[in-house]
Formats: sequence, structure tokens, C-alpha cells
Amino acid sequence: MSRVAYVDGQYLPHCSAAVHIEDRGYQFADGVYEVIAVVGGCPLDEEPHLARLARSLVELRITAPMSNAALRVVIREVVRRNGVRDGIVYVQITRGVAARDHAFPATARPVLVVTSRRKRPVDPRAVDAGVAVITIPDIRWQRCDIKSVALLPNVLGKQRAKEDGAFEAWQVDREGNVTEGTSTNAWIVTPNATVVTRQADSAILDGVTRLAVLDIIRREGYNFVERPFSVVEAKSAREAFLTSTVVGLLPVVKIDGVAIGNGQPGLLSRKLRECYLTHEAAAK
Ligand code: PDD
Repeated sequence: MSRVAYVDGQYLPHCSAAVHIEDRGYQFADGVYEVIAVVGGCPLDEEPHLARLARSLVELRITAPMSNAALRVVIREVVRRNGVRDGIVYVQITRGVAARDHAFPATARPVLVVTSRRKRPVDPRAVDAGVAVITIPDIRWQRCDIKSVALLPNVLGKQRAKEDGAFEAWQVDREGNVTEGTSTNAWIVTPNATVVTRQADSAILDGVTRLAVLDIIRREGYNFVERPFSVVEAKSAREAFLTSTVVGLLPVVKIDGVAIGNGQPGLLSRKLRECYLTHEAAAK
């Protein structure tokens, strides 16, 4: 089955789908995006994703190119045309095409792109053995709550992690606190079994997986607190894990080469991963 992309009103062969060279997303990273998981052919947690997309658009004063009802139809059509059962949908909206000038163009129309692909299955070894993270300075802007396509620091951070043989890089603010990973949210479990993740301030993206995991934690009655945690605290945590749409929940067993807990995925991380898989399965 050949892949199909939705680009600015048309369903096109993926291999030849393109936007204009003066699209502001291309020139200024002037756009926003969402990555939504597809489980059994259905978008997972579509409402919080669309709500976050709408919020990102409002924050950047980009007009939504269509209603959420219409966007839901396009998302389903792209998933269907690509025959995706388990994978992701990528939704991107840029401010549109205009002669290059930093200020907003008077007439540009926002451009919507929707693609879908089968997810690379999460490596079972990463689930069973956990993953390593490194820490790096957070060099991003001060509005990381907006899911903007401007991801250069995240790209550089992830590459550094890869070159260091780690799965992810946890970014660290000037106070020595972990903000988040380059494409994931960061969590620890303290020695007294309290789950900690940073509050959803403008230093992090309020992950949809983060929200789902917080719901699970509340429902299951675990202790949790949303507050900053330092690299030092993380290294002496009982457990650590990370979350995102693409990986779900993965245990973290090493930070900068320091083993977390006994160096194995923690009990609570494994339980929460099980609960998250149940949440995913319920979307079908
Ligand atoms: N990234 N933090 C950052 C910086 C992210 O880019 C992401 C997601 C998350 C987790 O958010 P969510 O649970 O809603 O996926 C946190 C997506 C998956 C990406 O850029 O591919």
C-alpha cells in the first residue's frame, strides 16, 4: 500500500507531497504540531491532543485551518488510506506561505499537513531492561509549553544521547532541575515511594501521556507530587521513567552512567507501564 499525505486540502502520494519553499514553517519554524498514537486504527487520546494543538495555535496567533470536527475526519482518512492499525499520526499547522518577512504576513493562510505511519515497535529490550539517559543543559526558549516545530535544541540533545549510547537526554535548567527529555517527559520515584514529575509550567510540554499517567496514578492511589526535581535527587531516586506518545512509558535505569535503584526497572514503573498499556488497549 503506497503512503498518502494530506497537504493543504489534498490527499497526495507521500513520496511527492510537498509544501512551498516560502512556507513559514520551513523558513521560520513558524508552526505547531501534534503526534497522536494510533491503536487498532483509532487515534488515542485525540481530545487532549486537539485541545493542546488549539492552545498552541492560540499562543502563536495562528488561525486554525479547519474545525476540530473536520480535522478529526482528515486524521481518520489519513490513517485509513495508509492502512495504519498501530502507529502514529503527525499533524502540523504552519502560519502559511508568504514572502519572507519576520512579522506576520497580512494574507497568509495556515497550511495543514497530516501524515501517518506504522510505529517502530518499542524495542522489547528497552522495556525489559530499561533505558539510559544523560543530562544536558536546557538551552531552549522559555515557552516549551507550546508544541512548536522549532526543535533544534531537542534534535541536538537527542543526537548527543545517541552518540553517548543513551536513549534520551534529560534537559536541566539553571537551578539544576530536570525540565524534560528532548521528546519525552521525565519522572522519578523517591525513596519513600512518591512519584515526582515537574509541574506543567512553561519549561515543559504538558505531555498527553503525562496526563494519562497522572490519571492512572490518582486512580490507583499512589502518592505523587508535581514539582521540580534536581539531577542529584534523580540519581538517588528509587526509580525513574519517561513518557511520550511514541514510547508510552519506559523505565530509566541509568542517569549519566549512575544506576538508579538496583539498576533494574522499578516495580512501580512496571506497574504504571502495565496500566498505561491497558489505557491504550481501551482506545480500540
Ligand atoms: N514529542 N516533551 C517534549 C519536548 C516532547 O516533544 C514530547 C512529545 C513530550 C511528550 O508528550 P506526549 O506525551 O504528548 O507525546 C514531552 C513527540 C512525541 C515528538 O516530538 O515526536
